[in-house]
Amino acid sequence: MFLSKLFLFCLLYVKYTNSLENGLARRPPMGWLSWAQFGCATDCKKSPNKCISDKLIRRTTDAMVSQGYLKAGYEYVIVDDCWFAKNRDKNGRLQPDPERFPHGMKDLANYIHDKQMKFGIYEDIGTHTCAGYPGLQGHFQEDAKTFAEWEIDYIKVDGCYMNPDQAMINKYVEFGDYLNKTGRSITYSCSWPAYMPVEQADYSLLPKTCNLWRNAWDIGDSWSSISGILKWFARRQDIIAQFAGPGHWNDPDMLIIGNNKLTPGQSKAQMSLWAILAAPLLMSADLDLVSSSDRDILQNRDVIAINQDELGIQGLLVKKASKHTDVWTRKLTPIVDNFHSYAIAFLNKENNGADKVTVTLSDVGLTSTKKYFVCEVFKNQKKPHLININAKFTVKVNSEDVRLYKAIPATPKMLNCKKHLTCSKFQKDDIERVC
Ligand SMILES: *[C@@H]1O[C@H](CO)[C@@H](O)[C@H](O)[C@H]1NC(C)=O
Repeated sequence: MFLSKLFLFCLLYVKYTNSLENGLARRPPMGWLSWAQFGCATDCKKSPNKCISDKLIRRTTDAMVSQGYLKAGYEYVIVDDCWFAKNRDKNGRLQPDPERFPHGMKDLANYIHDKQMKFGIYEDIGTHTCAGYPGLQGHFQEDAKTFAEWEIDYIKVDGCYMNPDQAMINKYVEFGDYLNKTGRSITYSCSWPAYMPVEQADYSLLPKTCNLWRNAWDIGDSWSSISGILKWFARRQDIIAQFAGPGHWNDPDMLIIGNNKLTPGQSKAQMSLWAILAAPLLMSADLDLVSSSDRDILQNRDVIAINQDELGIQGLLVKKASKHTDVWTRKLTPIVDNFHSYAIAFLNKENNGADKVTVTLSDVGLTSTKKYFVCEVFKNQKKPHLININAKFTVKVNSEDVRLYKAIPATPKMLNCKKHLTCSKFQKDDIERVC
């Protein structure tokens, strides 16, 4: 009797702990993270505007509000490595660098919370952080407590200074338990998959342990870095995409839009593909120096809506339409008469001039209904085009650029309300209101 009850309990337990139940990151997290743009700049005398400091975090927080990022959905302000003092205090507690963070982390958290935003921080599962500051190893419980006391909302835990093996994975699970025991809601970003081959990383454990996880190497400030990461994701999509969903996401690393290292086309391409991948949208730019055209890309409501789609289904590379141009799709809401909507991205990865590709919607996997209403994102298209799934259409994609579309199934119900449909109101709520 007891044994059978125990067995039943175990079954239920297994069933209900398939993913981390902390209620966080139901959509891919959006915010700002210091690393790609500011790295480990600690010399505030030499570069007062570029060093990792209280001042940088506060001015970024201000810019998030004044320049419309918060309103567009970006809510986390996250300081990466190098916020630390070189040593723990005399009681073994972590402390920020006293000169660069003179008011302490709790005070900084209050500042960010007062502006309706969330504060994220960085640590490392090993003995040291990647830049050599004190790591979590041997201090899990007290450090989790410290972060909760500072009212941290998000933590990125890196994986330097530890062997990338099963013991490392176990340590991430253990630290996650200590975070949970603090009772504070803290979004948990893990890094172990970035330190080992996909086959060793035990992907099935990720959604049970982490809200998001870095899969591959650090992004650099260039198009070749972006296209390399996309290639990595495409090659492994059959293994990794299934583990993404509300509460748990694959993370191809930061958006580098706004750093003046990308052309407008490359910027649109990163934004579009990160939307297709259901990737966290963590900007890493000096927000006071972002051009207005890059800001428009970062704040484009239609591409953000694709990224934040409530179903949380990660998109896939579905067709190599030519030597240079790949087609990626992602299933979205609204679901109309049981048929999904889709995002479709045509990505020309190469620098060989414009590429023209001809496909049908059915070629790229849209087969559930006969016709779709299609609008292009990043265009001022007024009315959706009605496209038959077997009709050939040609898309011209410039070098290292993207064309991004959204398609909604043209079921009889949708055809009936055709005259109310516009591309400026082509999201789930709009459609439900007018149809
Ligand atoms: C801790 O884990 C339990 C069980 O999964 C969950 O119900 C609870 O919300 C978690 N608490 C925090 C603060 O994350």
